[in-house]
Amino acid sequence: MAQHRVVLLPGDGIGPEITAVAKTLLDAVSQRHGFSLSFDEQPIGGSAIDATGEPLPASTLEACKAADAVLMAAIGSPRFDSLPREKRPETGLLGLRAGMQLFANLRPVKIVPALIGASSLKPEVIEGVDLMVVRELTGGIYFGQPKGRIEADGDERGFNTMTYSASEVDRIAQVAFNLARERRGQLCSVDKANVLDVSQLWRDRVETMAPDYSDVAVSHMYVDNAAMQLVRDPKQFDVLLTGNLFGDILSDEAAMLTGSIGMLPSASLGSDGPGLFEPVHGSAPDIAGQDKANPMAMVLSAAMMLRIGLKENAAADDLEKAVDKVLAAGFRTGDLMSEGCSQLGCQAMGDELLKAL
Ligand code: IPM
Ligand code: MG
Repeated sequence: MAQHRVVLLPGDGIGPEITAVAKTLLDAVSQRHGFSLSFDEQPIGGSAIDATGEPLPASTLEACKAADAVLMAAIGSPRFDSLPREKRPETGLLGLRAGMQLFANLRPVKIVPALIGASSLKPEVIEGVDLMVVRELTGGIYFGQPKGRIEADGDERGFNTMTYSASEVDRIAQVAFNLARERRGQLCSVDKANVLDVSQLWRDRVETMAPDYSDVAVSHMYVDNAAMQLVRDPKQFDVLLTGNLFGDILSDEAAMLTGSIGMLPSASLGSDGPGLFEPVHGSAPDIAGQDKANPMAMVLSAAMMLRIGLKENAAADDLEKAVDKVLAAGFRTGDLMSEGCSQLGCQAMGDELLKAL
């Protein structure tokens, strides 16, 4: 029997509630499909700061690196906003991405037919949307040096550096080209090459690689236009390739096409070693501990973990089908609620998902 070691990172806010739902469902599908999952829960983010003083304890990073896959819920809490940057929850997540060398972040955005009415966009604009944001995750302005705050000429200045090397662009572009190949063969690379040197290098590298993927149609788009096109005509996109900061912004925008960011999973991958699977949404401190959270992005992240990280495709299919079934039956969490549907809390949604399995 296959045995997979999973590190669970419940994190902050609604994290523990949605982790509990995912764990129950993972137990159920593993039994059904004849493999075993062991769970090792580790602290990260604000809960790790409370427990150890550090947002990413060394023991958490070590456990993650040694696992077969890592499933994280969410980190962050306004309680820590006044701490110095290196002590904040977000720094723990960035340290985990860097420490595990997870340079490729995949954020699939697919419209669920049952949720078309939940989107703020018109049904005819979003019907059939099926795109993938490929975001570079360990470089760019998030990690570039130099950065900081300095006093100069009686003024204070803050600065960060947006930087990519050719090899960093090549490896993330390769991921995107290969994905485009398996999908509809379209790759749109998003940059700001009309203004930024770092973006011109990005565009040059993607152009250089294009002939090696003659079956993929490559286009380039400036990020401001891409932000507009995502709400004007999102169906034009198949794979969207972009850097760390633009990807952060565009993936939230793309997620909202589905009506709620509470539906979107993601995978963060390196060249080898375990992947990190997490919902795109944050820790939602405003509803934490109130049994209001939508656990579906977390369950879909668990499905991505099963498929990509553990190669348990049948079990992944089951989780995804359970989500579709529960939505088709009219069950909704508060974020997705519309007329004629039944509103459930996080736990009750977990129970329905379990029944639907
Ligand atoms: C995301 C989040 C993170 C990011 C934060 C929490 C550091 O917004 O995963 O998109 O900016 O990458
Ligand atoms: Mg973000």
